[in-house]
Amino acid sequence: MLLLDPKPQAADLAQSLPTVLPRHVAIIMDGNGRWAKRRGQSRSDGHRAGAESVRAIVRMARKVGIETLTLYAFSEQNWARPAGEIQSLFTLLVEFLASERELLRQHQIRLVALGNTDKLPLPARLALRKVIDDTRDHKAMTLGLCLSYGGREDLVQATQALAAQVRAGTLEPGDITESAITRALWTARLGGDPELVIRTSGEQRLSNFLLWESAYAEFVFSDVDWPDFREAQFAGALRTFAGRQRRYGAVAA
Ligand code: FPP
Repeated sequence: MLLLDPKPQAADLAQSLPTVLPRHVAIIMDGNGRWAKRRGQSRSDGHRAGAESVRAIVRMARKVGIETLTLYAFSEQNWARPAGEIQSLFTLLVEFLASERELLRQHQIRLVALGNTDKLPLPARLALRKVIDDTRDHKAMTLGLCLSYGGREDLVQATQALAAQVRAGTLEPGDITESAITRALWTARLGGDPELVIRTSGEQRLSNFLLWESAYAEFVFSDVDWPDFREAQFAGALRTFAGRQRRYGAVAA
């Protein structure tokens, strides 16, 4: 039985995947605006098409056995966008959570949100809370949504939390180790660092995404805009990852 209901083409792609897959894939979903502009459509139309790619990639990640998929959906810096665009992004998020709730339940996908989520509009916060609570015990895959997220912002909040413990006398400065910092980050809930970071749309930068966590990640930059990044492009990125030699600062065996 197929896990999900992929198109036949997607099922073929999943079968042609390498045996070495990253446990954790993180994606900077870029290019929605340019995709829409090329078609004479609004930026919101681009985000709507991007939400379809989110649906496709979540299904495929679960199908092929990725343990964690983390998506950069809204950065802390994205608050500087026009109010109408921000509103359309959070409307899409609420629609996505409503439409995917059953899939997350059936396929045992745990949803986690990472970022300053208190700043999100109330309908988005309520929808997130409900799905996060519903999926809390799911074990098959973790879907991380970065919302009002920034890697530097996460490091600042983790540092402040650790400093507060030192002031309270419950932590020694010498106990602020790599693993203590990792545990204090929002991303601790993801259960491990990304092994593969993908960015779409031809841009080659991190844009404040998973700065601490991506220290040893492999990067794949795709020229395709996010709304066109579907099963075939994801399979291509996974094959590129499988061809990389990872040394973590040591020498090749
Ligand atoms: C970057 O494209 C994309 C975003 C800032 C938002 C990503 C949002 C979605 C894919 C849709 C909704 C998400 C979910 C989880 C349902 P851009 O607007 O910066 O594109 P541009 O660089 O071409 O202008």
